[in-house]
Amino acid sequence: MAFRLPLLPVVVAALAAASWRPGLADPATAVGALPGLPVAGLAVGFYNESCPEVEDLVLAEMRAIVAKDWTLGPALLRFMFHDCLVRGCDASIMLRSRSDKGERDAVPSYGLRGYDEVEQIKAKVEAACPLTVSCADIIALAARDAVYLSNGPRYPVEAGRRDGKVSAKYDADNDLPPPSSNIVDLKTYFSVKGMGWKDLVVLSGSHTIGRAQCSTFASDRLYNFSGKGEQDPSLNKTYAATLREACEAGLENDTTPVEMDPISPRTFDLGYYRDVLSNTSLFLSDQALMDDRWTRAYVERMAAAESPEEFFQDYAVAMTNMGRLEVLTGDNGEIRETCAAFVR
Ligand code: HEM
Repeated sequence: MAFRLPLLPVVVAALAAASWRPGLADPATAVGALPGLPVAGLAVGFYNESCPEVEDLVLAEMRAIVAKDWTLGPALLRFMFHDCLVRGCDASIMLRSRSDKGERDAVPSYGLRGYDEVEQIKAKVEAACPLTVSCADIIALAARDAVYLSNGPRYPVEAGRRDGKVSAKYDADNDLPPPSSNIVDLKTYFSVKGMGWKDLVVLSGSHTIGRAQCSTFASDRLYNFSGKGEQDPSLNKTYAATLREACEAGLENDTTPVEMDPISPRTFDLGYYRDVLSNTSLFLSDQALMDDRWTRAYVERMAAAESPEEFFQDYAVAMTNMGRLEVLTGDNGEIRETCAAFVR
């Protein structure tokens, strides 16, 4: 719908010209550097007049949230992916279904955390600016701040999204790639949404922070690779032995968390690409990035890079692309008082 691929070069140039401030830079100087309105209705600084304090409020709340529990940072980054890939970035993941037929009830939403925290941030924003800021924008800002608070870039975030009123389990089941995906599957899941191989390989770099439950990878990689009752031969043997200690064989719903980038799970850095290159990434879908010459070349270059600068710039572009998927703007959708309304 609103995603406009031909404008990508404009965005790339705009984002490249923006000020990239890795780490704990002064937020005030890092925001608002993206000029233009590449998707009608979305803009950096959209709330400058109607709720000038929104970015500060979200950041302050995110600081408090991750100070209490660092694992919620990565969880809220993942949250934006699950929002945007399903019916676009419209906070439909927050809606509740009385009949368990909403996005929350879908298989890929398993283990998704952050619902309460999005609501908590929304309540703070609502107190300052009633019925002004959408939940979809709060999700996008919280994801950016999760990256920033993990020492990643504080890139400008476009706002102006409005919230959807529909949430369907089957959409989430269909549109989110499972961790068993191969490279053809992954590129297809992304391309049907208007995103390319670069978005795929760059956004997969999000797996440089956070954790996954054993049930999401143990069967595929440790105990039943290709349904043959074996370990994935491409997985580094020493790493596999460590994973086997964490994830017991034969447990179907093992919720034990394992860090996705074992060296620096809390730091947004190039660790993910080094993991993929050294066969110590967790999912088949991570390893699959080595099966396409473009994604592999990117992994190799980032794994060898001395500075994360290029990755950070690419990440800002890719997150902006994802943040534009099928957005509701203008008079479409709504601004709700609470994000987790019941729909049916
Ligand atoms: C490319 C396809 C992708 C697949 C197959 C995939 C799959 C997964 C799975 C299965 C988990 C573990 C969930 C759990 O056990 O609780 C996970 C975690 C995570 N994913 Fe992805 N993901 C993909 C892309 C992305 C993207 C595009 C982002 C962000 C923009 C992202 C961010 C994260 C983060 C930060 C975590 C850690 C969550 C936490 O610690 O709670 N992923 N992903």
